[in-house]
Amino acid sequence: MPHRLRDLLERNRRWAEGVEAERPGFFTGLLQQQAPQYLWIGCADSRVPANEILGLLPGDVFVHRNVANVVVHSDLNALSVMQYAIDQLHVRHIIVVGHYGCGGVTAALHGRRIGIVDNWLRHVQDVRNKHRPFLDGLAGDDVRLQALCELNVLEQSLNVCETTVVQDAWTRGQSVVVHGWVYGLHDGLLQDLEVTVRGPDDVLPAYRAALAALQRRHREPAAALSDRGSPAARS
Ligand code: CO
Repeated sequence: MPHRLRDLLERNRRWAEGVEAERPGFFTGLLQQQAPQYLWIGCADSRVPANEILGLLPGDVFVHRNVANVVVHSDLNALSVMQYAIDQLHVRHIIVVGHYGCGGVTAALHGRRIGIVDNWLRHVQDVRNKHRPFLDGLAGDDVRLQALCELNVLEQSLNVCETTVVQDAWTRGQSVVVHGWVYGLHDGLLQDLEVTVRGPDDVLPAYRAALAALQRRHREPAAALSDRGSPAARS
């Protein structure tokens, strides 16, 4: 539903009035400080807005978004956001949020050419290639896409854990918990993929357990009757 730009400004005024009516002094209170507890790393997709999905107001969640919620070790943008969120704002949770039906993940899965973003999506193709035997063993493109959306969350969560920023926080004894969630465009609901990491010793056990659960979930419909010992089912 398109809006004219003037309508957007009018909608903004009504929204601000509504917030202020419900919580008098809300905006002047935010002037003093922001103290969000959460850093959300999500997809740029317009259907996955962090605050609305969580039912949170301005000031509650620090947000970084890019195409397909990718965390790259040399991405100064993402690293700067993470360092500011951890060192200055002392967020307690970093949540990597993927979503089903992600256009970026779909393009990566099928090697579809779009433009400059192809180079960015190479990182998601790395995830695809890493898990190729498992993905190839799944029944159909829909299941493969769902699985890759989840796998991408797991891998990007792992990347978050491995950044110097998070490692340094843990070394100092600062409490930072990393989570991986996936969002359903069709029902508006978030699911915890249970790759929850509280410190360096949790990283690999949490990743392995979450990966095993993910593989079980996606294989089950096909694997229930078929040979579980096949190469595709074991990888
Ligand atoms: Co997306």
